[in-house]
Amino acid sequence: MPVGSRFDLTGRVALVTGASRGIGSAIAETLAEHGAQVALSSRKQADLDTEAERINVLYPEKTVAIAAHSGRPEDLGRLVKEVMGRFARIDILVNNAATNPYFGPVIGAELAAWDKTFEVNLRGLFVLTKLVYEASMEAHGGSIVNIASIGGLRPGLGLGVYNITKAGVIMFTRQLARELGGKVRVNAVAPGLIKTRFAEALWGNQEILDRVLAQNPMGRIGVPDEVAAAVLFLASDAASYVNGEVLVVDGGGGGEP
Ligand SMILES: NC(=O)c1ccc[n+]([C@@H]2O[C@H](COP(=O)([O-])OP(=O)(O)OC[C@H]3O[C@@H](n4cnc5c(N)ncnc54)[C@H](OP(=O)(O)O)[C@@H]3O)[C@@H](O)[C@H]2O)c1
Repeated sequence: MPVGSRFDLTGRVALVTGASRGIGSAIAETLAEHGAQVALSSRKQADLDTEAERINVLYPEKTVAIAAHSGRPEDLGRLVKEVMGRFARIDILVNNAATNPYFGPVIGAELAAWDKTFEVNLRGLFVLTKLVYEASMEAHGGSIVNIASIGGLRPGLGLGVYNITKAGVIMFTRQLARELGGKVRVNAVAPGLIKTRFAEALWGNQEILDRVLAQNPMGRIGVPDEVAAAVLFLASDAASYVNGEVLVVDGGGGGEP
């Protein structure tokens, strides 16, 4: 089969969390561009509707928008039920939603901030993955792509609690890839600093930005489309023998403050 056609997702159904803006919306658009039906999810229905309509203008009738809070298992249960009711299967799951309520040393974190970060970034990811596996992938197979971070691979200052959850996302990815035996491939993407609202406190601060750029051989930070392309590869048949892998997308180094 020509390699190019292995990126074709026609007939596949994808669920992308955190899809109303930033990296998640770029992923949703890229998967729709390659033929997938895409369910976009995040907390705010109005923002999701706007994003889904924007993508539908480019790729007609490719997206639906279903709000759900990643920290609430009941929301995630309803989300999977609605996607299954609509499409009867989920072939691709992109666990992208995450939060970071606290910036500072790990030892200074309040329990509430610690719990919130774990609730959304790690527990929510586990709950949704389990629901999608049991509803569809156990029977039909599939591909799961988890959005981690280079902060999950090595320590950096300020984002320690968040980084610990992302290290958990990476281990979750490797563990699940081993347990699911390839019928469901499980991979992760670990972005460096990407220009989104989430990371504005970093790239919007000239001192931090200069520090990051000084370590980066490409001399710039990334944009959401560059992460989306890596997700497309891992989600598609082009990555049919890639399993349990963590694909770093950081321009070749640096990225953390
Ligand atoms: N930007 C970077 O430099 C960078 C670097 C490494 C890794 N990452 C990772 O990339 C992913 C996307 O980040 P981003 O930079 O694109 O962030 P972003 O632009 O702030 O987008 C975050 C998305 O997640 C949704 N979201 C936030 N909290 C949620 C919750 N509790 N439940 C459901 N949805 C929620 C947001 O919508 P609502 O607010 O409407 O819910 C939004 O759609 C995250 O996993 C992040 O950790 C980002």
